[in-house]
Amino acid sequence: MTATRRTFIKTLSAASALAAVGGTQTVLGNTAPAYIPNLRRVSPNDKIRIATIGMGIQGNYDTMAALRNPDVELVAVADLYDGRLEHAKTAFGKDKDLFATRDYREILTRPDVDAVLIVTPDHWHDHITIAALQAGKHVYCEKPMVQHLNEGKAVIDAWKKSGKTMQVGSQRISSAAFQEAKRMVQAGEIGPINYVESNNDRFNAIGAWNYSIPTDASTATLDWDRFLGDAPKRPFDAKRFFRWRNYKDYGTGVAGDLFIHLITGVHFVTNTLGPTRIFSSGNLAYWKDGRDVPDVMTSIMDYPKTDQHDAFQMVLRVNFANAGKISNVTRIIGNEGTIEFSEENLILTKKKLPKAPGYNGYDSFFTFTPQVQEEFKKQYDVQYPPETRTAEPVKEVKFESPKNDDAHAAHFADFFKNVRAGSQGTIEDPVFGFRAAAPVLACNESYFEQKVVEWDPVTMTRKGQAAKAAPPVAKRKK
Ligand SMILES: NC(=O)c1ccc[n+]([C@@H]2O[C@H](COP(=O)([O-])OP(=O)(O)OC[C@H]3O[C@@H](n4cnc5c(N)ncnc54)[C@H](O)[C@@H]3O)[C@@H](O)[C@H]2O)c1
Repeated sequence: MTATRRTFIKTLSAASALAAVGGTQTVLGNTAPAYIPNLRRVSPNDKIRIATIGMGIQGNYDTMAALRNPDVELVAVADLYDGRLEHAKTAFGKDKDLFATRDYREILTRPDVDAVLIVTPDHWHDHITIAALQAGKHVYCEKPMVQHLNEGKAVIDAWKKSGKTMQVGSQRISSAAFQEAKRMVQAGEIGPINYVESNNDRFNAIGAWNYSIPTDASTATLDWDRFLGDAPKRPFDAKRFFRWRNYKDYGTGVAGDLFIHLITGVHFVTNTLGPTRIFSSGNLAYWKDGRDVPDVMTSIMDYPKTDQHDAFQMVLRVNFANAGKISNVTRIIGNEGTIEFSEENLILTKKKLPKAPGYNGYDSFFTFTPQVQEEFKKQYDVQYPPETRTAEPVKEVKFESPKNDDAHAAHFADFFKNVRAGSQGTIEDPVFGFRAAAPVLACNESYFEQKVVEWDPVTMTRKGQAAKAAPPVAKRKK
């Protein structure tokens, strides 16, 4: 940062900052949004200056991953809880004057911020993303991109109008394992995919999202009203603030938290646009601690045949109350093999059936009369010569990710590369991001409405129900 810019920023109060940047009133007020150009083009030799909005668990991990890239600098952070702002200043601002605020809008009006990382609870994703794009910032937004089905298009629209780069944060698709899985699937190693299954069971309080609550949590140390945002008003409740995933007003349940990673991965490796039918069932079995989302849930999704893949079914499960043996597994199953994920590695098993179906064993053959059995053998020998009777040997290939594989930093690297190149697209741009988020949001709608959700993955609209348009952003609560 140049001395002049540093001085400028230091002397710029929040109010004057808002006034100084033309059009920023739209971030705060209710007037129609005017997209303002970025105040600065990031040239290949410039540092990209980032600010993180939401400095909780993932905000810290995201910031660290972003900073593992060269020529990236953290200049500001926003969070609603003072303790986290203090922590961020210590963790990231030791050698500099890290600007820290409770009000994310003060970040958006800063001319020294090129890109924002949006790492808040899910119900804030669309509001802050749209405001940031309107303010001329590049956006890295955590998954799921939006909280509800009807919010996706507004984000896509804002991204298109802004001309800015946007990346959604399901970083696992930038891992070596997912890149390899894509290569294998596209090379036809497992034949046409017919089924994808994954379970992600847990049995411990932290795994079930009961994160620690700081002892000084109160309305004096955090901004409860802003946390609520567009969610229903209610009195302060530290559990809701720090364990927001447990409540559908702020989070997206097991689907938005966990299914999303696998769905994003499957969309990445298959080039699919998404499922057309989604059904979920489940219940709250164990964690009856006031939460209003299920802790056991299974969802079934039907992906129709497209020019990229055959029809396949996806079945996903989470059980936060699995007191038995937990063996989580993710498998992509094709007609000629499977890809199984274990940790960051994967195992490809190729298995091709012989042409000849065989007979006898557990079969109807023994129930035929001797004459019919004789005739059957004759015909079988003609139809299936010896070379059609042996299967290709089962082949197992283990892919081990390189020791230095860093999917998180790589996901940011893709974002920064596109920021520098002036390209809007990324490996997980908002169109891809919404197509991956929509099925998980539909899982929740199916669970709560107790019906099958019909989804059009091409137009990205819910079928059989006039898509309830989200209110214009300017009219929504900030
Ligand atoms: N990609 C991944 O692997 C991954 C992993 C974990 C979490 N996440 C996502 O990251 C996001 C945050 O999750 P988390 O576990 O860090 O939650 P968290 O509760 O630990 O942190 C969220 C922080 O956001 C702050 N916040 C809330 N509203 C805000 C607002 N309007 N402005 C500024 N700050 C605000 C809170 O004060 C809190 O400190 C979620 O969307 C979650 O789905 C992604």
